Amino acid sequence: MSSTLLISATLALALLFVGSDAQLSATFYNSTCPNVTSIVSNVIQQAQQSDVRITASLLRLHFHDCFVNGCDGSILLVNSSTIVTEQDALPNVGSVRGFGVVDNIKTAVENSCPGVVSCADILAIAAEVSVSLSGGPTWNVLLGRRDSTIANLSGANSDIPAPFESLSIITTKFSVKGLDTNDLVTLSGGHTFGRSRCLNFISRLYNFSGTGSPDPTLNTTYLATLQQICPQNGSPNTLTNLDPITPNTFDNNYYANLQNNQGLFQSDQELFSTTGASTISIVNSFSSSQNTFFQNFASSMIKMGNISPLTGTNGQVRSDCKLVNGG
Ligand code: HEM
Ligand SMILES: *[C@@H]1O[C@H](CO)[C@@H](O)[C@H](O)[C@H]1NC(C)=O
Ligand SMILES: *[C@@H]1O[C@H](CO)[C@@H](O)[C@H](O)[C@H]1NC(C)=O
Ligand SMILES: *[C@@H]1O[C@H](CO)[C@@H](O)[C@H](O)[C@H]1NC(C)=O
Ligand SMILES: *[C@@H]1O[C@H](CO)[C@@H](O)[C@H](O)[C@H]1NC(C)=O
Ligand SMILES: *[C@@H]1O[C@H](CO)[C@@H](O)[C@H](O)[C@H]1NC(C)=O
Ligand SMILES: *[C@@H]1O[C@H](CO)[C@@H](O)[C@H](O)[C@H]1NC(C)=O
Repeated sequence: MSSTLLISATLALALLFVGSDAQLSATFYNSTCPNVTSIVSNVIQQAQQSDVRITASLLRLHFHDCFVNGCDGSILLVNSSTIVTEQDALPNVGSVRGFGVVDNIKTAVENSCPGVVSCADILAIAAEVSVSLSGGPTWNVLLGRRDSTIANLSGANSDIPAPFESLSIITTKFSVKGLDTNDLVTLSGGHTFGRSRCLNFISRLYNFSGTGSPDPTLNTTYLATLQQICPQNGSPNTLTNLDPITPNTFDNNYYANLQNNQGLFQSDQELFSTTGASTISIVNSFSSSQNTFFQNFASSMIKMGNISPLTGTNGQVRSDCKLVNGG
């Protein structure tokens, strides 16, 4: 009886230590790949010379990775005998980009530190480097994630928010990932740079919710501009800037846009235009202080980067980010 008790106590203690493995650390690669951040940075700076959008695309990749089974590099996996790629999910298809640059980063990292740095961590570092290179804040990226051996197409379709979803639905989608309203307003500030295709907001321009009229919250000057870029029978894939004022800079202008009714997506504008919403005062505070926004962005990115990582001996360090090892 008492020996059973001892065994269960020991087991509980052992489980506790396994649990404590799930801690990421800023110094994870200090001895095994001390230069990983500068290697990632050099490749991104190179890519930026011919593609100003790449930093925005890399930030978004980390977000879309973390929201599906946690930050585990699953978004990078392409179709194979065991994998149905997440890249075909509705929020991703024809839209997520930067995979070639991720492959170039992986090659450069493998050249210095073979078999050590996971693809999930590369996405986390690339997100920080991208924000910082675009004028945004820096933060200490927590590391030690490992890569998944599975992808989750249906999870990508259900868990990544859509631009035409209401504030309450998107709040719930963040909350199931452990992210609160402040994180939602903060991380939506990622829409301070990068591009979108017309199909994500054209429903606001001509016949909003079957009313026969545009979304009444849209600034009429901005509406006219968007109608020119995205005519009713034009290509759904034409690109426009998420931030019309400073399209390639990571700044707090996104929040001023919302105050001016120039949020591109319904999901953006609702943060400011939903009557009585607790998000409004956060938008106002970030619009009036870039420092406040930057500090919040850094801590919300760390929080997002902590979503269900694989650590310890779970998962693997892929040698090719697109494929499961030996698969
Ligand atoms: C809150 C819910 C969110 C929704 C509904 C949403 C939706 C979208 C959509 C529809 C696009 C355009 C895709 C295309 O047409 O190709 C986009 C682009 C983008 N999103 Fe979000 N997003 C959200 C949150 C976030 C977060 C949390 C981040 C990062 C912290 C982020 C970063 C970006 C960036 C940087 C782009 C531009 C990407 C590029 O130019 O390649 N978004 N988002
Ligand atoms: C790891 O490296 C960073 C940056 O060089 C340094 O600040 C930190 O003290 C190092 N930590 C350990 C545990 O070596
Ligand atoms: C790390 O990078 C610096 C410059 O970026 C370089 O001088 C140094 O030799 C590198 N160290 C290693 C171990 O690669
Ligand atoms: C990946 O595989 C799925 C299921 O077999 C298929 O429907 C899809 O078209 C494939 N995607 C690509 C990009 O090959
Ligand atoms: C895929 O994602 C959904 C939604 O989060 C989740 O319920 C499901 O367990 C995931 N499937 C796998 C195999 O991880
Ligand atoms: C707007 O869409 C609704 C259905 O969503 C349709 O019944 C109506 O005819 C459309 N109005 C115009 C002006 O296109
Ligand atoms: C529309 O946007 C302009 C800036 O382009 C701004 O001056 C104006 O106040 C905005 N109107 C509304 C109703 O938000």
